[in-house]
Amino acid sequence: MSSADPSQRIASAVEAALADLSVAGDAAAVSAVANAATGKKGSLTALRRSLAEVDDAERRRDLGALLHHAMETVDSAAEQRRVALRRAAIDEQVARERWDLTETALRSAGQRRGRLHLVTQATERLEDVFVGLGFQVAEGPEVESDFYNFEALNMPPSHPARSMWDTLFVDTTETGSVVLRTHTSPVQIRVMQEWPPPIYAVMPGRVFRRDTPDATHMPVFHQIEGLVVDRGITFADLAGTIEAFTQAFFGRDFTSRLRPSYFPFTEPSAEFDIRRPDGTWIELGGCGMVHPSVLRAGGLDPLEWSGFAFGFGIDRMAKERHGVEDLRDMYSDDVRFTGQFP
Ligand code: DAH
Repeated sequence: MSSADPSQRIASAVEAALADLSVAGDAAAVSAVANAATGKKGSLTALRRSLAEVDDAERRRDLGALLHHAMETVDSAAEQRRVALRRAAIDEQVARERWDLTETALRSAGQRRGRLHLVTQATERLEDVFVGLGFQVAEGPEVESDFYNFEALNMPPSHPARSMWDTLFVDTTETGSVVLRTHTSPVQIRVMQEWPPPIYAVMPGRVFRRDTPDATHMPVFHQIEGLVVDRGITFADLAGTIEAFTQAFFGRDFTSRLRPSYFPFTEPSAEFDIRRPDGTWIELGGCGMVHPSVLRAGGLDPLEWSGFAFGFGIDRMAKERHGVEDLRDMYSDDVRFTGQFP
């Protein structure tokens, strides 16, 4: 061993390695530092090789033990650093993905800042009412394939009913194969494909149509879809559910009615209206018994299962509930407007 004081050299090699390890920022840096000390060409390894030059057997043994301990110290410090880095990464991820519950906390402390959008408030109330009736909540993609938006809903290509929806198409290589969903009905198919029946589901979400904004139309708006599939479901179940919903959501002095209509994915089909306490009616949405082709597209046997579906506009409901005159106001993000609906 060339140095006059090999034990001093061992100590300083360990000290240097520990100092480097304490600032190593990732696993690769840790391995590099450990390698530089205990690897094949490491400083401690070199010192161990030079032990052969120590003539005094006892001294050689002592230095050997010292080196062994030094290498263990560096290796275990490297391992500890790796564990600490992993833990820090996990902590950071947990902090990043943590649910921010401050709004709830602030609200209960009476210092709530900001508020939920009218449509969000309406969606949450609708979900609450349907969950209370035993429904589950599902969601589907906003960018949808032609198959789910039309074909599986009993509208093959060039079916005239497709023109009931002013569709926005996504520019893809296969023209017309991808759309911004024009309604939440495609989620019916996705739910049937994924959930084994019986199914009691509501599916709220954003939908898109080629419409110019005016007081009652927006190109982006919201719907909530309902789907029930079970054995022996009848039109009476549909009417009863719509009525139960109407009273639960609007109040006992409201009632509902169904009017014959046409939708390709239901047979028979109906529009449903609600009657306000002042005796006036307003149309809310469409509904009907799920068409056998739609059940088949969802992978279900229409001889075994039957069901009903409904869908209505959430924005319109929020507008009605709060007496908003122009839908565009709801999307103006003007605090003088939004501040009226805490
Ligand atoms: N998807 C229809 C629309 O946007 C609404 C609708 C009608 C949904 C009848 C349904 C239904 O589930 O059964 O115009």
